[in-house]
Amino acid sequence: MSGVHRFQPAGPLSGTLRPPPDKSISHRAAILAAMADGTSELRGYLDSADTRSTLEAVRALGCVVEATKGVAPGALAVRVEGIGLRGPGERAGAGPLAIDVGNAGTLLRLLPGWLAGQGEGKGSWILAGDESIARRPVDRIVEPLRRMGGVVECRDGRLPPLAISAADLRGTSYDTPIASAQVKSCLLLAGLLADGVTEVIEATPTRDHTERMLRAAGATVGVEKVGSGLSLGGALPGRRVRVEPAELLDPCGFDVPGDFSSAAFFVAAALIVPRSRVLVEEVGLNPTRIGLLGILNRMGAAIEVTEEPAPDGEARGTLDVRPAPLRGTTVTAGEVPLAIDELPLVGLLGCFAEGRTVVRGAAELRHKESDRIARVVELLSAIGAQVEAFDDGFAVTGTGGVRGGSVDSYGDHRLAMTGAIAGLASRVGVEVSGMEAAAVSYPGFEADLGRLASG
Ligand code: S3P
Repeated sequence: MSGVHRFQPAGPLSGTLRPPPDKSISHRAAILAAMADGTSELRGYLDSADTRSTLEAVRALGCVVEATKGVAPGALAVRVEGIGLRGPGERAGAGPLAIDVGNAGTLLRLLPGWLAGQGEGKGSWILAGDESIARRPVDRIVEPLRRMGGVVECRDGRLPPLAISAADLRGTSYDTPIASAQVKSCLLLAGLLADGVTEVIEATPTRDHTERMLRAAGATVGVEKVGSGLSLGGALPGRRVRVEPAELLDPCGFDVPGDFSSAAFFVAAALIVPRSRVLVEEVGLNPTRIGLLGILNRMGAAIEVTEEPAPDGEARGTLDVRPAPLRGTTVTAGEVPLAIDELPLVGLLGCFAEGRTVVRGAAELRHKESDRIARVVELLSAIGAQVEAFDDGFAVTGTGGVRGGSVDSYGDHRLAMTGAIAGLASRVGVEVSGMEAAAVSYPGFEADLGRLASG
């Protein structure tokens, strides 16, 4: 049957991995390039299903986009002729324009920020996507956009399709109830077209690529610490992010670093497949993305991190990973946004650790490409793990490894790849149904795995 792949217990993984370009940064680079006045050259744009949806979306809005094969593996060189901040409104036709976001939650949540403020009467758009997107909540952006004067409708008050009618927006101060970089980014983009300053207060910081990239494009973005300024455990202090309205954005030449979240699959593999040694190069090390390293450090993992200077503001570097005896740890709410996409791997590593590994304060996992609490627990149970679900997380009791078995990705790319890594370190192998989902973020995943396993 297509899409069913078997991953056998492997010998050591060894060699060098250059992970595919960062998905979050690629989405943002395409959107900001579209919003700019002038032509942007994006080096190392991720060539994946999700980020191709974003290129198609900005094309649909009127941008000329040229994409050719890039130098690095899994990368495209992309040239975007921006249509300017007010371009979608100026080009809008009589009826609503349909935009297909595919499987891309980031596109679904960010693009409305730009469209909502095009000015009363200046167009309307309908965003919809695949079956999984139809279950992803959008009320989290609808509510604050409406507060800014946005005219936005969705199904049953919370789900796509999302219908946006251009409006005149006013700045707001939004104390976000959900730690979500997508919500923050949506409001920052909307703020560029609003009247007055827009600020987003996040008690728990989330990835800050949008802030950095907006500044590089000439926008005025301020960031202050809020709260006690103390960080607990591996968490960072809260932030108040402010954006001023802008006349225009400058085109940019973003050079996208490797995706830490994609690299994480091989970091996990090198920790649990005996005698492995994997060097991960050119990987993004933005502090708001690498919460997993702090968690692994507490678990006793041996990872050497070498950081290179970051002229463009996005830290990058090399990780040197070898197996280590692991011990259980507790991941707390403040750490969750800094490791949100890596939590399925924390569950898998917990099976190999001594004692209990607990993830709490992670109810957001239920709203990812699948319900990642229910599905991670199902996946780990199917391969012999001792695991329990909570409303807001899960706990795994280490038993020295996993037996293996058959699992389903449920169309979720990160579950597919977690199943594959589990197979390499299992006793009898893991069969993954729906392995093709990996192409959403990492089309070369199986090729990289084959290369490192035979290295
Ligand atoms: C993303 C933010 C996270 C993350 C997603 C990508 C982004 O989602 O899970 O894979 O690019 O901003 P939330 O911001 O909704 O937590």
